[in-house]
Amino acid sequence: MSRATQVAKLADREKTAGRLLKSSADKFYDPDIDIDWDAEIPADLSFHPEHRISLYGTELWDRMTPQQRLELGKHEIASIASTGIFFEVLLMQMLLKQVYKHDPTTDHVHYLLAEIADECRHSTMFGKACKRFGVPAYGPRKWVKQLAKVLPVLGRGPSAYAAILVAEEVLDRMQRENMVDPGLQPLIRMVNRIHVLEEARHVTFARQEVVQGMAKAGRFARSYHRLLTAVVSYFVALSLVNPEVYRAVGLDPKQAWKAAKNNPHFQETMRYWGERIMKFLAETDLVGGPGTVLWRRSMLLAK
Ligand SMILES: [Fe+2]
Ligand SMILES: [Fe+2]
Repeated sequence: MSRATQVAKLADREKTAGRLLKSSADKFYDPDIDIDWDAEIPADLSFHPEHRISLYGTELWDRMTPQQRLELGKHEIASIASTGIFFEVLLMQMLLKQVYKHDPTTDHVHYLLAEIADECRHSTMFGKACKRFGVPAYGPRKWVKQLAKVLPVLGRGPSAYAAILVAEEVLDRMQRENMVDPGLQPLIRMVNRIHVLEEARHVTFARQEVVQGMAKAGRFARSYHRLLTAVVSYFVALSLVNPEVYRAVGLDPKQAWKAAKNNPHFQETMRYWGERIMKFLAETDLVGGPGTVLWRRSMLLAK
């Protein structure tokens, strides 16, 4: 890359960071103040839309009582939210590493710090929601948690941002639908609304990092980023529903998870949640090669 192009790219980055910082100052929520955590939890409202629950439409589902279905929705949303916490914490680690490396007088670094502050509040908010509903913060499966320790070491450049975008945009697709669903708990809708509003900045920032990173990557680097994005995204998708949630409603975790994976309704839900980010990743040349099999297994890419 020529010196002039490099300077132009840095100027672009500063401009975006400046704009995002202004938005961070104008629009942000403090979940401790902006959410009434003591508000009543109506007994008749759902925690997760029925048609998005992993077992919806299966034989197991047909045998469940309305109460079991409501309960499963509550545990699945707790699993999704706590997996959100897990990936937010990973993102914060990667962003902090960037803060170390760059000039702290730039808007770019100030924006990185603002995004870390947003994610701190989000993780607190998701954790408080699990506590308020009295459900465990399941998070990903234990072995995924172990494996993920290498991510802050391996993750750099466009694939690090792309993998985080997958977590952010999948959640965003789900939350945009949930925040306007009158059949859902008001607390869930408020948590979703806050997250959608603040994540819009993160998505803009990460998308720019992916586009610029891929534009300067050589052939070998592009293949590496393509594969790493597929691997991490597979674990993101796999982690949304921790099979332990099924135990909470008296089902066998192994058997129920198998039914969920083979459930055409759940496959369609995953494809729907992944639709927007998959389009972007395909446009930036991050889908294809040996990772394709993982994309299909993640259910984010239609079979
Ligand atoms: Fe977040
Ligand atoms: Fe985020």
